[in-house]
Amino acid sequence: MLGIIGAMQEEVELLVGGLEQAGQADYPGVTIHTGRLDGLDVLITVGGIGKVNAAMTTTYLLAAGATRVVFTGVAGGVHPELRVGDIVVSSDCLQHDVDVTALGYRPGEIPGETLSWPADEALQALALEAAHELEGVNVTGGRVVSGDVFVASPDKVAWLWQTFGAACAEMEGAAVAQVCARHGVPFVVIRSVSDTAGGDANMDYREFMPVVARHSGQVVRGMTRRLAAGLAEPS
Ligand code: ADE
Repeated sequence: MLGIIGAMQEEVELLVGGLEQAGQADYPGVTIHTGRLDGLDVLITVGGIGKVNAAMTTTYLLAAGATRVVFTGVAGGVHPELRVGDIVVSSDCLQHDVDVTALGYRPGEIPGETLSWPADEALQALALEAAHELEGVNVTGGRVVSGDVFVASPDKVAWLWQTFGAACAEMEGAAVAQVCARHGVPFVVIRSVSDTAGGDANMDYREFMPVVARHSGQVVRGMTRRLAAGLAEPS
């Protein structure tokens, strides 16, 4: 069963609206929508903003029966060539705000854990294929970095690019990845660029988020169509 998470209502509303045989399962503070998209059984939820919310919601989603997970939403572009509206499919995720460097660990490294969590190759390929179907949208695969911070500074963007080779920055993906990896469940993160995380990020985000959030939802829908038709490799 495919579990789909967005941080905000705008990121999943089209998908929830498209559910057939819709139902819901309630967990403390979280509603999981159940039903079928394109004939495929799915679970869809709004996870809330930030890594703690994302980790908690992912845990519920797995308890509810998700056997693979897709995160859909918006991000701040970090790669210098990314523009508003572009799509990033995660190659891997890491937590850019983890700092145990004083004890000799690398930036982003949690002692005892991997530095980054790689996306499932089959889900990644499926997401890239579905994303390439969108007209006029540039698509790239790359590293998604997560932190409990809305990045709105050119210096921070430069640091994320130089330190991690990040494609984009957001606030949930790596937490979803970490929980999925612990459970051995394949995942991928799909992000539409709503801003380029610089000085104007807050204004761009407000203007473009509601529009571009739909792009990553459309990619998920392309994935469910393919999975339902048996066109995708199993994860
Ligand atoms: N999501 C969308 N834009 C973002 C940004 N600039 N920083 C963190 N998360 C974001």
